[in-house]
Amino acid sequence: MSVTHSDAPQAPTTPGTETGTPAAGTTAPGTVEAPSGTAHVVGRVDDVPLGEGRAFVAGNTQVAVFRLRDGSLHATQAACPHAGGPLADGQTDPRVLVCPLHLYAYRWSDGAPTSGGNAPVRIYPVHEADGALVVTV
Ligand code: FES
Repeated sequence: MSVTHSDAPQAPTTPGTETGTPAAGTTAPGTVEAPSGTAHVVGRVDDVPLGEGRAFVAGNTQVAVFRLRDGSLHATQAACPHAGGPLADGQTDPRVLVCPLHLYAYRWSDGAPTSGGNAPVRIYPVHEADGALVVTV
């Protein structure tokens, strides 16, 4: 089966908006890849107990996703930038994530360490869609 593309003008798109899912290995005409990356369904929101974190793979990127007690979701790189600690096993509150190995803390707002002198963690956008956990890397 062959696929043809129309020469008709495409509807304008807004960067960061979802316009549908193109077939694997293709880019749908008129779509714009979000500047922040590609969204991946990594699991179900219920896979992450309230107040805890879990490790997932989003595309080729290992991430740690947290569901805080207020229901909010946060995602970061899986390995701590200090010495590779498993951030998914860390403690968190609405303000910071604390690595379980040496207790360095990182702000959710920008990933910066609260004590300085250490590299920041990468923060990834995460949201829930019909019960699915979606991380953009
Ligand atoms: S490995 Fe995370 S604080 Fe040392």
